[in-house]
Amino acid sequence: MICFDEKSATFTLTSKGAVYSMGVTDGVLEHRYFGAPIHCDDDLSLFRGEAAASFEARLPGTVSQNQILSEAPAYGRGDFREPMLVFRGEAGETTVDLKYAGHRIVSDHELDGMPSCRGKETLAVTLSDPVRGVSVELFYTVFDDVPAIARSARITNTGEGKLKIVRAYSAALDLPDNGYDLITLYGAWTRERMPERTPVRHGVTSVDAKRVSSSAAQNPFAALVEKNATETAGRAYGMALVYSSSWKISCEGAQNGTVRLLGGINDFAFSKTLAPGETFDTPEAVFAFSSDGIGGLSRAFHDLVREHIAPPAFAKTPRPIVVNNWEATYFDFDYGRLFSIIDAAEGTGIDTFVLDDGWFGARNDDSAGLGDWTVNLNKLPEGLTPIIERCHARGLKFGLWFEPEMVNPNSDLYRAHPDWAISCPGYEPLLSRRQLVLDITRPEVRDHIVSAVNRVLKENAIDYVKWDSNRNVTELFSDAADENDRECFAHEYALGLYDLFRRIIFANPGVFFEGCSGGGARFDLGMLAYFPQIWTSDDTDAGMRCLIQYGTSYAYPPSTGSCHVSVCPNHQNGRTTPFATRCAVAHLGPTGYELDLSKLPPEERAQIREQNERYRRDEDLVLSGDLYRVADPFAGNAFGFLLVAKDKTKAAFTLVKLLNETNSERPVVPLPGLDPAAAYRVEETGAVFHGDTLAAVGLPLEWKKMRDFDAAVCHLTRV
Ligand code: DGJ
Repeated sequence: MICFDEKSATFTLTSKGAVYSMGVTDGVLEHRYFGAPIHCDDDLSLFRGEAAASFEARLPGTVSQNQILSEAPAYGRGDFREPMLVFRGEAGETTVDLKYAGHRIVSDHELDGMPSCRGKETLAVTLSDPVRGVSVELFYTVFDDVPAIARSARITNTGEGKLKIVRAYSAALDLPDNGYDLITLYGAWTRERMPERTPVRHGVTSVDAKRVSSSAAQNPFAALVEKNATETAGRAYGMALVYSSSWKISCEGAQNGTVRLLGGINDFAFSKTLAPGETFDTPEAVFAFSSDGIGGLSRAFHDLVREHIAPPAFAKTPRPIVVNNWEATYFDFDYGRLFSIIDAAEGTGIDTFVLDDGWFGARNDDSAGLGDWTVNLNKLPEGLTPIIERCHARGLKFGLWFEPEMVNPNSDLYRAHPDWAISCPGYEPLLSRRQLVLDITRPEVRDHIVSAVNRVLKENAIDYVKWDSNRNVTELFSDAADENDRECFAHEYALGLYDLFRRIIFANPGVFFEGCSGGGARFDLGMLAYFPQIWTSDDTDAGMRCLIQYGTSYAYPPSTGSCHVSVCPNHQNGRTTPFATRCAVAHLGPTGYELDLSKLPPEERAQIREQNERYRRDEDLVLSGDLYRVADPFAGNAFGFLLVAKDKTKAAFTLVKLLNETNSERPVVPLPGLDPAAAYRVEETGAVFHGDTLAAVGLPLEWKKMRDFDAAVCHLTRV
């Protein structure tokens, strides 16, 4: 709900569980409050910054802009904190003074060419500066079922000369106090999204990506949580970007005791020049709030993703259970090897076979073939049809791997169009995994990709696509872009990518698309608008997956991160974990297998059918349940997830002991979130406990019996 009180010039935005208030004073759009519902008709302007010290720059009779909480901080009129917006006039002027000029309420607001949250009502507030010749429309979308606000900005050159944008973040959030810790998610290939919590310091702390991808190194998410906040208690604010290219999020502990959280497109190597009348849209950023600690904040993001971002046709529907041949064969396969995997899947509950990298062009290793989306006839002389027919004969669907944005120098595509690969004049392009990136900012390159991929999808019965992307962009430059677009290549790449998604993914509504980027290196809210799930990580070791899936869940629901059972010793880190644990951890997301089923020991193979039946029985918990992180593997010796059905009729608890210690202390793992008054039966033991008991003391655990990486899984049903 969006309200404007004309008398006090106050906006109150109400989402379920959170309100956001702002007001206009001296023409400035000031932030007043974001948090748990309160009476926003109380005069919150009384909490504004105090009259400034005489050293502060300000107009007579006003409070310095350095003291106030601002909705759209810009540079040049006394606010010395990090600005959200920075411009340069034709003569290099940097001063801008944005003042309230009007507002409107729109429904079904969408961003042009970029993904955004689906919300019913959006407030658009216009700020303008006639001297600089710029107006900024700030968009605020509210949600009636999630404590979150989505924000973006549209910048228009209203002057007569050129206007250069040198920073265009999506949003800024000023909080009136600085009692917070900052949580961000850092990582790398095979160890994506590791949580890192540090006190907010005075000064600017930032995380970013300069890779033309949201990246594994840092994830476009940050949370400010009260210093003593836990998983279950304390105020927590989060910011996540609906964006998949180079980004930045900054947090500034200011000298007046306030904190500013802001971010959007990375302003590193970015600028955009607008001619008179031209506009520029920022991507969307989402702020969420919870007074129920970090866990509550995560659940707010989870609901937001499932209800307002993920493709509605797939968001909460049962997922394919796949067997993928990557770790089974890598590039070394023929019909015989693939058929043995497909045959072994029959009757196991696995319903989709996914043929990974290596089926096309001259692809026998990673040195050749990318870009040539025609079947590798040396390997598969009769094409894909025999594989698809074999799948259908065994009751399976068929999925196929693509890496549409890439090209190997050793490919027909590169030989025909060497200029289509991104490079910078005078520099030999760097290879990464022996491949280059196609310049998808160019329409003719996109047209080619769209027709090549769509042709394969049209000519073959393909139910599932895994869309991979295995390198970052270097030598940012586009030979074809006009000078203006070259200034913001990384953003143009994002726009090109989203155009590809629309023309391939949305044009094939019956195909299920899984995102991937050398594991989970492009896992963000922008991708999730197109892909219901993303390959979480190339690390399939259950031990590492406990860490990776724990960190990923800070912002992203279990339904979005695919998890596969693979063989031991694990191919990435050599670790051996019990088969049952690999299965338990892989059941905490859309599940599958990444191994040669025909080579599994018979006792493991015999378990697969039962494993998949078990997964299907409670898949709704993965797709739409509330997640409680009940044991933190970064803080102790156990990983624990509890998934609770929204109606609290059932739950599933998974605990993994990491390293065994002789005679170790038994942890108590409380299980919150169930109906305190209701009794629940534990399927595995038959024991019955009430929700309040479970929330206080958890379940009895046979902790001492558990060895390294043993898992305990308990399914609870309300009786
Ligand atoms: C990286 C992906 O994460 C893997 O699952 C696999 O698809 C390889 N690429 C194939 O090259």
